[in-house]
Amino acid sequence: MNGSMKDRISELKKEKDVAILAHYYVDGEVQKIADYVGDSFYLSKIAAGLEQKNILFCGVRFMGESAKLLSPEKKVVMADDFADCPMAHMITVEKIAEVREQYDDLAVVCYVNSTAEIKAVSDVCVTSSNALRVVKKIPQKNIFFVPDENLGRYVAKKIPEKNFIFNDGFCHVHKSITVDNVLKAKEIYPDAIVLTHPECTGDVIAVSDFVGSTSEIIDFATKTDCEKFIICTEMGVFFELQEKNPGKKFYSVGHRQFCPNMKKVTLDKVEQALESMTSTVELPDDIIVEARKPLQRMLELS
Ligand code: 13P
Ligand code: SF4
Repeated sequence: MNGSMKDRISELKKEKDVAILAHYYVDGEVQKIADYVGDSFYLSKIAAGLEQKNILFCGVRFMGESAKLLSPEKKVVMADDFADCPMAHMITVEKIAEVREQYDDLAVVCYVNSTAEIKAVSDVCVTSSNALRVVKKIPQKNIFFVPDENLGRYVAKKIPEKNFIFNDGFCHVHKSITVDNVLKAKEIYPDAIVLTHPECTGDVIAVSDFVGSTSEIIDFATKTDCEKFIICTEMGVFFELQEKNPGKKFYSVGHRQFCPNMKKVTLDKVEQALESMTSTVELPDDIIVEARKPLQRMLELS
């Protein structure tokens, strides 16, 4: 890494009282300079209790919004203002209102990969690491799971006592990992085990040995005695997998495990964002009040 840029970033961080939070899907170079790196759940817990006055988010918009909702008094700055998750926009407030009309005993369960406007009309948020735990604890029988259909179906299979209504949202990165890709990788690396994110399709999940969030995949690979892994999630996780497990081998399943939005975040942009502190996350007060409730409920239940 460019030494002077790293030094400048740490100077600016101190001078401006900023904590840098980064998701595992951003480039390894960016993960290296962050104060906290993790999955969506870990980053929301961290954002809720930081001592620094300001947060710089290296990730996509919904993550910066969650940090703002949990710490509205702080300035939250996006390293790249245009890094946005397409899945977050695959559900509308109107669709949620329509489904609410059809069921009495309904909870709208909102994956954190969603906009603040959607959170504001939801009952509880979940992430990929706590969805099972949280949904099991909510009293309603009918669950409208938004926006991700694949995660919704994964959770539904494990909680057959509830009635799930799905929305047709998806993550294009995880959806592009096909079962054929995985089976071919298994042929090439027959002694590797398959670790998969639940945003993948059900047929990929069915041929996997372990399913979990990015942190859970990293923990599993680190703790197990197995030495070879086929990884079905975004390629950013390879950085931490390799850092924690230098002797183990990690294989991808093709060339498309790449989130173009997460990869918009570069070290240059981190430095510029720290200099200017202008790409702030701004949300209307009423949205802050309503959208933080399901996030806080998630933190209580998980
Ligand atoms: P987790 O951080 O919960 O593993 O989710 C992955 C993701 O797609 C974030 O955009
Ligand atoms: Fe969104 Fe998928 Fe990128 Fe995560 S990996 S930010 S879900 S597009």
